Amino acid sequence: MGPAGGADLPGNVGPDLPKIGNAGRDDEWLFNYVNHARVYNPDTVMPPWGTHGIFTDAEIGDIVAFLKTLTRPAPSSPHWTTRAGARLRSNSAIIWMR
Ligand code: HEM
Repeated sequence: MGPAGGADLPGNVGPDLPKIGNAGRDDEWLFNYVNHARVYNPDTVMPPWGTHGIFTDAEIGDIVAFLKTLTRPAPSSPHWTTRAGARLRSNSAIIWMR
């Protein structure tokens, strides 16, 4: 299954985030988006990670700190090599290491 609406995007649903750190989103915006994206987009399908109790505020804070480190395009190779040398499949659910 491709992206909703046939958009030319990687993955199946949400936007690719490898350069989200350059997008001009501040900490508060990113926190609110991960916590409960509907405050900005009432029609979003993104799960409300915080208000549904999936992540704590502290965990969302860690996610925001991580998102802000993402400032480069993801590697185009179908396999990515982590710093530890592990090979990850590009379609795995694991967030890549840089
Ligand atoms: C921990 C996991 C996730 C994080 C950290 C995350 C983070 C984000 C962020 C920061 C944005 C805003 C991008 C921008 O406009 O600058 C976004 C948008 C979006 N995300 Fe997620 N996301 C996650 C999981 C998901 C999942 C599981 C889905 C779908 C089931 C999803 C669907 C979307 C969609 C559709 C958007 C586009 C805007 C919208 O419709 O709200 N996300 N995500």
